[in-house]
Amino acid sequence: MIDLRSDTCSRPTTPMRQAMAEATVGDDVYGDDPTVKALELTTAELLGKEDAVYMPTGTMTNQVGIRAHTEPGDAVLFDQNAHVYILEGGAPAAFSGVLPRLLPGIRGIFGPDDVDAALGRPHPFFPITIPAPNRLLCIENTHNIGGGSIWPLEKLEAVCRTARTHQLRLHLDGARLWHATAATGVPESVYAAPFDSVSVCFSKALGAPVGSCLAGPKDFITRARRFKQQIGGGFRQAGIIAAGALYALQNHRARIGETHALAQQFAHGLAQLESIILDTSMVETNIVRFRLASADAAAFVEAAHRRGLWMLPSGIDAVRAVFYLDIQKNDVVRAVEIVADCLKELSVNESIDSAPRNTTAHHGAGY
Ligand SMILES: Cc1ncc(COP(=O)(O)O)c(C=O)c1O
Repeated sequence: MIDLRSDTCSRPTTPMRQAMAEATVGDDVYGDDPTVKALELTTAELLGKEDAVYMPTGTMTNQVGIRAHTEPGDAVLFDQNAHVYILEGGAPAAFSGVLPRLLPGIRGIFGPDDVDAALGRPHPFFPITIPAPNRLLCIENTHNIGGGSIWPLEKLEAVCRTARTHQLRLHLDGARLWHATAATGVPESVYAAPFDSVSVCFSKALGAPVGSCLAGPKDFITRARRFKQQIGGGFRQAGIIAAGALYALQNHRARIGETHALAQQFAHGLAQLESIILDTSMVETNIVRFRLASADAAAFVEAAHRRGLWMLPSGIDAVRAVFYLDIQKNDVVRAVEIVADCLKELSVNESIDSAPRNTTAHHGAGY
């Protein structure tokens, strides 16, 4: 099975497993696991922040980050398609009690004017009481639903400058920040510089089995540790999995660009096929999103799965494929062949069977 559902489907390599088996451990809750501490220190340094805290998931680092920046009743600005807003189980409302205010990003990217327009200017006609203090702006780089899109650095910095004029704090969901750096050469620390806090994941294309870090100023990370504990994130001999994350950082980070080349190869193969709607210039990193001109995504993904290719439907006619280091160039060649076969099968079926298509995908609703 060629599994392109997500870059989280990577498997730990033999040397990574070895590093995990040999990890020195302590107790994460008491703060004395040396491997966890080494991972936190390495990540903080890489991102140019004072401190970092390791947690099991990127959802937890994002949501603990939001909680640590805010108090219930505060408003938080999100892009309308932000992972933190759409795909984290409603946690901003449930865990932090914050009021989301949505920005009209295109592929996750918006401008300083959008921030200004959302917040407005004080005016004598406005009521004196503000319904909810606007506290935080979240940005995602690269952007998942945006198809792995990269924020242009100048735009990112301009948006952050504008946000500061409104006294907003800034959080970066950098689950795939490594990919932005691999594509542009801009160091992660430069992307991270305008933000108070940054979340990064080791369990995606970097290839570690588990974990993410939240980085920021020392006092903020101390506050974040309390919320980590509050939601059950204290994970004892976590050094065993932190060793996998550290290994990934030290050995796989420099190879992330290989996943972009695979995504390009796949996108260019698909773009040759009739009935695929795909602009290859929109494929900037390791995520390929495409649409089907005349088949529904659920039936298409089903047909591909039967042939050994696993992708996610991400809408009625939209599909997502994500690349990571376990995928080989040969797999990509085979994947394009499978897509071509499926399109043929579906167009034949459609002409002999005009019955309504089954639109419920058993592979889950992917975004
Ligand atoms: C942009 C982004 N942020 C956060 C997450 C959450 O990470 P996790 O699955 O580790 O909770 C994901 C997961 O795919 C993501 O794509």
